[in-house]
Formats: sequence, structure tokens, C-alpha cells
Amino acid sequence: MQVIGVIGAGQMGAGIAQVSAQAGYRVLLSDVDQARAEAGRDGIAKGLTKLVAKGKIEQAAVDAALARIEPVTSTDAMVKCDLVIEAATEREEIKRRIFESVGKVLSGTAILASNTSSIPITRLAQAAPDAARFIGVHFFNPVPVMGLIELIRGLATSDATVAAVEAYGKTLGKEIVQANDAPGFIVNRVLMPMLNEACFALGEGVASIRDIDAACRLGLNHPMGPLTLADFIGLDTCLEITRVLFTGTGDPKFRPAPLLVKYVEAGWLGRKTGRGFYDYSGAEPVPTR
Ligand code: 3HC
Repeated sequence: MQVIGVIGAGQMGAGIAQVSAQAGYRVLLSDVDQARAEAGRDGIAKGLTKLVAKGKIEQAAVDAALARIEPVTSTDAMVKCDLVIEAATEREEIKRRIFESVGKVLSGTAILASNTSSIPITRLAQAAPDAARFIGVHFFNPVPVMGLIELIRGLATSDATVAAVEAYGKTLGKEIVQANDAPGFIVNRVLMPMLNEACFALGEGVASIRDIDAACRLGLNHPMGPLTLADFIGLDTCLEITRVLFTGTGDPKFRPAPLLVKYVEAGWLGRKTGRGFYDYSGAEPVPTR
């Protein structure tokens, strides 16, 4: 593989573009317009510049990585790609439209992948030109820091596709795990019930936001407490994935916590809206309860 297409230049897409370019791939980074695609590359430049300041990377390596990233708007440019990774908004109709459009120009050997955190890969593959060359490739936020990629095999994904994407993931320095196409795959199947339970605990008055987070951070040695992590991921995303687990399995143990639903209804979605379980308007996050 030499050329990687990344569709969606938000936090995840930009992260995937960054680690791919740092590993030596040529990257076409696309979004709905040129400004967003370029903003994605500017964000990568900013992050890499910070690493230079910390002495973690040479300026020459930054320049070389940035030179390998080309912001584009049209999916027509993806004709050159060996692998295209979709990291757009987590809405099935948007992803399907992308696969249909990019599918028209993809070469007969190129692989199409989705970074979806919860939509079934077998179903998404129906919008791809060839389900055998379609796969889930789930990165974690922040992509440059997190050491894992989950590969999700749809019912028709071929062994050759799995092997090629596994080899690509390894060149990024990530550990690869394989999951079957079940709701939440591995990480979100295990993580979301914990975050949801923290919301139940808060809603039932078991403890304060500060204490729930401190308990899990220090008592379990997690880098972030569950409510901090839920704010970091986005409460809307947590709710959406929890609902996928609930409806996908039919198991009541995944019932979304009423407080999580309320926060999402209030538009308190976490860091991205300036308020979730914490208020982010000041220098330091402040618990809201
Ligand atoms: N890009 C690049 N590097 C970054 C970064 C970013 N966005 N954010 C942090 N870093 C680096 C810092 O430079 C620092 O590097 P150093 O130790 O070499 O100096 C290191 O990461 C630690 O960062 P900080 O000191 O600023 O802050 P923390 O020690 O608090 O770490 C964190 C921040 C890495 C985000 C850590 O809190 C963490 O690991 N949190 C858990 C994150 C997590 O669970 N992510 C998965 C979410 S689930 C998901 O993505 C799946 C989806 O489907 C929902």
C-alpha cells in the first residue's frame, strides 16, 4: 500500500491522516469542502509542532509528514488510493452516500474501510462496490496516542482484505485486534456499559461527579474517570453507542441511563459543547454537580 484516502478531516480523520503520513504513506485527506480539508491538515501541523517543541520529533520529519498530506474535496481524487478509510459523521445515510460515491472511482483492488464505532459492517458493506474488500477499522481517540486498532470483519470480508489492513495497521505501530461484527465490537461493548453505569450511579446519588471519577481513576488506575471520558468522547456518541448495544442485543442490561439521555436532550454533550458533566468554560474543568 502506498496511498491512503481519509474521508472526514475531523478529529478522528485528521488523526488517521497524521499517523499514516508519519508512517510514510501518501495521504489524500478529504472533507465536504476545501476549507475543512485544509483545516484538518492545519490541525495536524499544530499538533506536530507541539511535539517538536517538546523535543519528541524533528522539524524535518514534521515537514516530510505534512508534505505527504494532500487536502482534497472530491472523492474523484480517491482513484489513486490503495485503501480509503471513511471517518465521517456517525450517521449511516452519510456513510452510505460516501461509499456509493467513492465506490464509483475506486480501483478494482482498493480496499474501503469504515472507522464506525457502532454501525454493523455487514450492513454498511451493502453500499460498497465489493463487500469482500470492505472492513471496519476502528481507531481510538486521540489517534496518535492510542495504541490500538480494532479490525471488524463483515460477513463477506475476505481474508486478503483483513491481512492487508492488518499489515497497514502494524506499520502505524498499533496493536491489532480482530472483532466479529457484533454490536459495539470489543472496546465499546465493554466500555459503554461502564460509562453508562457511572451515569446511573450519579443519577441515583451514589456519589458526586468528582468522587465517581476520582474513584475509578485512582481505584482502577484509569487515565480518566468515566464521566470525564464520557465528556471527552461526547455524550451524544456514548448514548448512540449504548442504544446500539441495547437494540442490537435486545438485552435490558444495556438500557441507557436516564441522566445520560437528559444531558443529551439538554445539548450538554461534553467538551465539544463546553458543558457535559463538567463545565469547560474556565481554565480547568469544573464538575457541574
Ligand atoms: N495528539 C497527540 N498527542 C497527544 C494528544 C493528541 N491529541 N493528546 C495528548 N497527547 C500526548 C501528549 O503530548 C503527552 O505525550 P507525552 O507523555 O509523550 O508528553 C501524552 O499524550 C499525555 O498527554 P497529557 O499529558 O496532555 O495528558 P494526559 O496524561 O491526561 O493524557 C490522554 C491524555 C492521552 C487523552 C489520556 O487521558 C487518556 O489516555 N485518556 C483515555 C482516552 C481514551 O480512553 N480514549 C478512547 C476513547 S473510546 C474511543 O475513542 C472509541 C470511540 O468509538 C468512542
